[in-house]
Amino acid sequence: MSGPAYRIEVYGCQMNLADAELLAGILEADGWSPAASPEEADLILVNTCAVREHAVERVVGHVKSLGVLKQRRPGLRIGLVGCLAQFEKERLAPRLPEVDFFVGPDAYRALPALLRRALRPQYALAPDAQETYADLPVTRGAGVNGWLTVMRGCDRMCAYCVVPFTRGRERSLPAASVLAEARRAVAEGHVALTLLGQTVTSYRDGATDLAGLLRALAAIEGLRRIRFLAPHPADFTPRLLETISREPKVARQLHLPVQSGSDRILEAMRRGHTRAAYLDLIREARAAIPGGALTTDILVGFPGEQAEDFAATVDLMREVRFDAAFLFAYSPRRGTHAERRLGDDVPRAEKRRRLETVIALQEEHSRARFAERCGRVLEVLVEGPARHPATDWFGRSSDLKDTVFAAPGAPPRVGEIVPVRITEATSHTLRGERVRPAGPEPR
Ligand code: 5AD
Ligand code: SF4
Repeated sequence: MSGPAYRIEVYGCQMNLADAELLAGILEADGWSPAASPEEADLILVNTCAVREHAVERVVGHVKSLGVLKQRRPGLRIGLVGCLAQFEKERLAPRLPEVDFFVGPDAYRALPALLRRALRPQYALAPDAQETYADLPVTRGAGVNGWLTVMRGCDRMCAYCVVPFTRGRERSLPAASVLAEARRAVAEGHVALTLLGQTVTSYRDGATDLAGLLRALAAIEGLRRIRFLAPHPADFTPRLLETISREPKVARQLHLPVQSGSDRILEAMRRGHTRAAYLDLIREARAAIPGGALTTDILVGFPGEQAEDFAATVDLMREVRFDAAFLFAYSPRRGTHAERRLGDDVPRAEKRRRLETVIALQEEHSRARFAERCGRVLEVLVEGPARHPATDWFGRSSDLKDTVFAAPGAPPRVGEIVPVRITEATSHTLRGERVRPAGPEPR
């Protein structure tokens, strides 16, 4: 007979998606099985994000709706896990009586022990600098993409960011654990791996840095593609760029969060790089990965951002013309340097206006960048049938663009890389047709 049933709901970043697989692994090793629907669950874990105010409000609204479910199902336990649980427990506990326990990221290993205790409400929260999360069981979902968390925490302390408080100090997994986990994931069919870490470019285990780790991973047979998130621009070494440039399994895409184009604001944000240094890195990245894609994060309305600072951000966007960007309006996060010292002086309506300006500009750039791919043949890793038209296939190009393509003749295999000639593009998707590779027909 299967054990009690769990359900995990995820808010926030890729690390939270990966952590949901980790939580599932920990629970399943302890006799739990996945619930088919929320109504059938004995336990619902809500994995939360604290990085922006908006995320917090969404989580609170959702937990309130789960409270209704609890009235109908008294045995149901609800746990708030992740960054928000770590960071806002004291404030949220009185607002959310439907939550039975709060567990911060560093305490996931203790979850089964906590669930066996009858006490409520329970809190397991202490950030644990020794917890590297090595060798915990992971239950990965279906599909060719797999997450691989290689480091956690952040020592950078950007002025606006709550992550160093919720996720604690930087810790890397031993390279041997990462390689073992990667082999396991590939054997399960996850031939495209995303290495995750809040500042993944700080990865280090003895003499092995991120470049070394990428090289070691690339040697794994059956692994087709590797990418990594989220790098910090100030940590890019020539060795890392050279590795990306030389190693065909590493995706031709770099996510380089810039946040602002103004030196004054970058300094106030404590980003650790200037506009010029960032633009130099962009030039080096373009030289190392010709035809590759560049994406970024931009934050508008940071305290003290004047019209000319915002203009500098717009100007940087025009200069780089990113393939895609995640664009945010600043919201103060309690306890951060910006919240304690810098105020929040850009009016809400002005933040909104600046956000809308960069969204419109990025839309233009994405459209142009995607259109540039037309006529080119890109290596597409096949993920499965397309939604529409259902006769087509879906995959991701080597520069990580969503690609829908026709494959007349023999259907492509999921997890293989096929050459696709791009014929059409929107600002989010490429369309094309598989071209036959030279050489004998595969049978
Ligand atoms: N307000 C708005 N956006 C933020 N980010 C981080 N902290 C804040 C904040 N307080 C954005 C940054 C970061 C991304 C993950 O979230 O752009 O790169
Ligand atoms: Fe936050 Fe800066 Fe660390 Fe990124 S590098 S997680 S933005 S403090």
